[in-house]
Amino acid sequence: ILTPAFLCRLTLTLYFQGKFYLEDPSGAVQLNISKAISFLPASFWLKVRWYEDSVFHINAFGFPPTEPSSFTRAYYGNINFFGGPSSTAVKASAKLKQLEEENEDAMFVIVSDVWLDRVEVLEKIQTMFSGYSAMPPTCFIFCGNFSSAPYGRHQLRTLKESFKALADLICEYPSIHKSSRFVFVPGPEDPGPGTVLPRYNVRSSISVNFSLNLRVKLPIFKYTPKVLYCSQEMVVIREDLVNKMCRNCVRLPSSNLDIPSHFVKTILSQGHLTPLPLYVCPVHWPYDYALRVYPVPDVIVFADKYDPFNVCNTDCLCINPGSFSRSGFSFKVYYPSNRTVEDSKLQGL
Ligand SMILES: *[C@@H]1O[C@H](CO)[C@@H](O)[C@H](O)[C@H]1NC(C)=O
Ligand SMILES: *[C@@H]1O[C@H](CO)[C@@H](O)[C@H](O)[C@H]1NC(C)=O
Ligand SMILES: *[C@@H]1O[C@H](CO)[C@@H](O)[C@H](O)[C@H]1NC(C)=O
Ligand SMILES: *[C@@H]1O[C@H](CO)[C@@H](O)[C@H](O)[C@H]1NC(C)=O
Repeated sequence: ILTPAFLCRLTLTLYFQGKFYLEDPSGAVQLNISKAISFLPASFWLKVRWYEDSVFHINAFGFPPTEPSSFTRAYYGNINFFGGPSSTAVKASAKLKQLEEENEDAMFVIVSDVWLDRVEVLEKIQTMFSGYSAMPPTCFIFCGNFSSAPYGRHQLRTLKESFKALADLICEYPSIHKSSRFVFVPGPEDPGPGTVLPRYNVRSSISVNFSLNLRVKLPIFKYTPKVLYCSQEMVVIREDLVNKMCRNCVRLPSSNLDIPSHFVKTILSQGHLTPLPLYVCPVHWPYDYALRVYPVPDVIVFADKYDPFNVCNTDCLCINPGSFSRSGFSFKVYYPSNRTVEDSKLQGL
């Protein structure tokens, strides 16, 4: 009786007493999911074991299958879903692919929770710069929050001062200043439209005169934290998604479950970075497309408070650098030429 047309109008509702119901305009049926495990996805299938006393007994929940991007592209050809200056998808370019493989020195340094207002954090960044100055990375991806404490009405001023300090630091290393690009991804508590995703670029909300103080090549993105490198597509999101997903799942995964890989699978099969109800994760509608991950990109950086992880699923490398300032100055380095990630850590003095 559950035809596809019927199914697509069904919603899964959690009522009090922890009971789940499938609803459509004609009524509701209770579900018994005591035998099923999964995160709560935005779209799903159910395997019904039996129907008894007006309750569906559910054996399993599932996601729509994930689809490698090569599969999607075979279907859609060279359409550029990702955005950027190219009218065709960068994946189609053999020349870019060759450039990417030849440039073995290319690397992306990914750091999250860069508390620029803390002296010890700036010191560690200086250590990092001096280490990399002989071989400047292609790009530094710095994720927020950029302040360690909420400064209230002084927040903007503090933030400007901290960015000025960072700018001075960058200028001390001319090779990095000249060759590396910087992408700044604001965190939940940086100025901007608050918790609504996708967040605006910090640069537009704090008007430090970068062109004057910095003369560093700054990020090109406006609303979407997306980075194109040769033929590779990267998406960056700074949000504590793992915990939000766990808090809003139908049944909590049992303790021995590998949470990062379940998390990544959920995101990829939903084709969206925040498959959560809008009251949990509000989305700025006109820019919702920036949160879609279909076709699957090559790399997704989930800058999350959760422990660092690298998970590869459906040809997509998902990286969480962990918290730099909170967890012993750890970060990740990504090499696009062989698509590998290295875990790095700056030792305490
Ligand atoms: C759900 O089904 C299990 C057996 O599969 C049973 O033990 C449990 O009492 C049922 N719960 C409800 C609310 O019907
Ligand atoms: C990937 O390339 C980088 C830079 O050339 C190198 O340091 C690293 O060892 C390589 N990793 C693997 C697994 O080959
Ligand atoms: C920074 O962001 C995190 C999210 O990871 C948030 O929980 C925290 O309260 C924020 N503020 C500070 C001052 O760290
Ligand atoms: C920033 O500095 C440059 C160079 O002096 C100047 O041309 C530009 O107008 C300044 N921008 C702002 C927003 O102050």
